[in-house]
Amino acid sequence: MTDQLIDKLTSLAKRRGFVFPSSEIYGGAGATWDFGPLGVELKNNLKRSWWRAMTQLRDDIVGIDAAILMHPRVWEASGHVENFTDPLVECASCKHRYRLDELPDGDGSGPCPHCGLRKLGEPRRFNLMFKTFVGPVEDTASVAWLRPETAQGIFVNFENVQQATRRRLPFGIAQIGKAFRNEITPGNFIFRSREFEQMELQYFCRPDAAAGLFTEWKRIRMAWHESIGVPASHLRFRDHRDDERAHYAAAATDIEFQFPFGWKELEGIHNRGDYDLRRHAECSGKDLTYFDDVRNERYLPNVVETSVGADRSAFAVLCAAYDEEPDKEGTRVVLRLHSDLAPHKVAVLPLSKKPELSALSREVHAALRPHFMTTYDETQAIGRRYRRQDEVGTPLCVTVDFESLVDRQVTVRERDSMAQVRLAIEDLVPALREKFGP
Ligand code: GAP
Repeated sequence: MTDQLIDKLTSLAKRRGFVFPSSEIYGGAGATWDFGPLGVELKNNLKRSWWRAMTQLRDDIVGIDAAILMHPRVWEASGHVENFTDPLVECASCKHRYRLDELPDGDGSGPCPHCGLRKLGEPRRFNLMFKTFVGPVEDTASVAWLRPETAQGIFVNFENVQQATRRRLPFGIAQIGKAFRNEITPGNFIFRSREFEQMELQYFCRPDAAAGLFTEWKRIRMAWHESIGVPASHLRFRDHRDDERAHYAAAATDIEFQFPFGWKELEGIHNRGDYDLRRHAECSGKDLTYFDDVRNERYLPNVVETSVGADRSAFAVLCAAYDEEPDKEGTRVVLRLHSDLAPHKVAVLPLSKKPELSALSREVHAALRPHFMTTYDETQAIGRRYRRQDEVGTPLCVTVDFESLVDRQVTVRERDSMAQVRLAIEDLVPALREKFGP
């Protein structure tokens, strides 16, 4: 069932326009993905939910949108040039490449899992950052890196943001943006790709407040995943062991989701201490200390970080939402998406293609679309159209029938329960607002 679920989701995602393999007509582009018309709506809704929770609903967090290309010394200061590596092992016979820790024996002493020969080479450190060059000359002086995380754009802007907004600690900076990693073994659909989006928060605080805030942010972030419809039964914390934690992290935990291929990291939460600001202060020569005028002391803020992939979160949401149930035509496939995330909130469906029904349906569509993401479908039998909307998670269908021409009422059908009610066309917007919020 688990393998089947990935196959079913991949196929649904392609067929209905959620996710396509990138550059597919050229055979794909190596673990990069394009979000189609429904996928971009889903991912935008997810990012909007995160942004709203992090900035709009809080006094103590502001957002930024930093450049992807940064000064190369940023990545020296952060430790990425030296340490952002995976141990790569290559089979001398079939040329398959593996991450050392993903081999069954974990140390490369066994046979190649692909060809079975004992031809695995010595592990070598492979840096996951994509290298590029700024300007026309490709020399060491013009090297630049595609950022492998958005966090560094926040650290280097700490002082700018603090001064521009006149914030006192504690306060946070939130950012959503692209990140790039030259993963050795990408895979499992959009779980691990080479280009993805992160939603990251760096929460700056007094050193003695960091441990408590780390616990608080674990709670807040878990609650957010549940608020977008991921069931608590599929989520858990996994605290990092001492030997897997980055040397600078005082504490680290993953929020894991039960993917069809097992419990895997969905989000990372770290107490990073003062490591990042200290390193940037040392390497840039800028004083990044903060003067605490309440305590009358100066110190380097500590940072609690929360970091979740938008694509990975969208994948978890899709896995959790996918459902099948028997019905009189065989099987009903339903994406039980939270209405905040559903690509379309409402579908308007005339019962038949008769011109008078189409005209009234278009009128209903025009009334709804300024308020809700609305779609319109008049092809094929109404039962087939309900199934099509169920399969992409549309919470409500509004059906215009011949009675509607007389009483100006329509049938509103709910996706999960399939319950139907009649409502006056004039009451639709307020009634749907009540369901979906403003
Ligand atoms: N700034 C901290 C940081 O980047 P991370 O654990 O390496 O931490 C954070 O990444 C999150 O980014 C992960 O929990 C995951 O959701 C997402 N992520 C990381 N690598 C990814 C990849 N190759 N493809 C998709 N999402 C990825």
